[in-house]
Amino acid sequence: MSNSNEETVTKVQHWTEGLFSFTTTRHPTFRFVNGQFTMIGLEVQGRPLLRAYSIASANYEDELEFFSIIVPDGPLTSRLQHLREGDPIIVRRKATGTLVLENLHSGRNLYLLSTGTGLAPFLSIIKDPETYKRFERVVLVHGCRRVSDLAYFQVIKQELPASEYIGECIRNQLIYYPTVTREPFDNTGRVTRLLTSKKLFQDIGVEPLSDLDKVMICGSPAMLRDTKQILIDMGLQEGNHGEPGDFVVEKAFAER
Ligand code: A2P
Repeated sequence: MSNSNEETVTKVQHWTEGLFSFTTTRHPTFRFVNGQFTMIGLEVQGRPLLRAYSIASANYEDELEFFSIIVPDGPLTSRLQHLREGDPIIVRRKATGTLVLENLHSGRNLYLLSTGTGLAPFLSIIKDPETYKRFERVVLVHGCRRVSDLAYFQVIKQELPASEYIGECIRNQLIYYPTVTREPFDNTGRVTRLLTSKKLFQDIGVEPLSDLDKVMICGSPAMLRDTKQILIDMGLQEGNHGEPGDFVVEKAFAER
């Protein structure tokens, strides 16, 4: 397993029956760009069983953090859900992914549009000081079915604004917009509908999204498809490695 490191789980947090996060040690040579993912997993019957996971921690932090759903019959997550502090976990040495700042042109505001565990890469990006140098305002939208699915709500609302390192940027430039679709909440409705109805912009008091702005999207395949189409209809162009654009897209990796 020369392309992987064996790390140790340092903390596990269960948010709901189907959502949990965990942190691990970080090998000193493991480097990544905020927003990237790597392959992580467990040894099962003598062989590594790995899946792609966005890194939710920032690249200047000592530990690695991951945010996962639990798929009851999923080969990996059904095992990962039982992780305990001190357990070993395999982390591939190579990180990659399209949700990185360098794949976007400069612009006015940055929109980070997520559903479910698609929030993970954006947790890394909102902790990156570079994000706030490149954009005036950063709007983080997290869409979930239920209020209890809004993992990291307290972290984003309370812990990050109080952070010594990134707190000032968060307080001055980050707008967090959690939204729920299947029960009452302060904000309701799908991310897509909030964009097309312009309700999002009314609620946050920001000029509606236009080609002056840049966007990152991370969610289920259906959410990506529909959100991407809205941006294309607005005249925005997709970016990729080597060719920056107005928006970039990545699947929230659920088990298949
Ligand atoms: P909804 O409750 O209306 O299906 P999931 O857990 O299925 O991935 O859903 C997470 C969130 O993403 C839910 O709020 C869900 O809304 C929403 N969602 C599902 N499909 C889409 C889509 N095509 N576009 C935008 N949001 C979506």
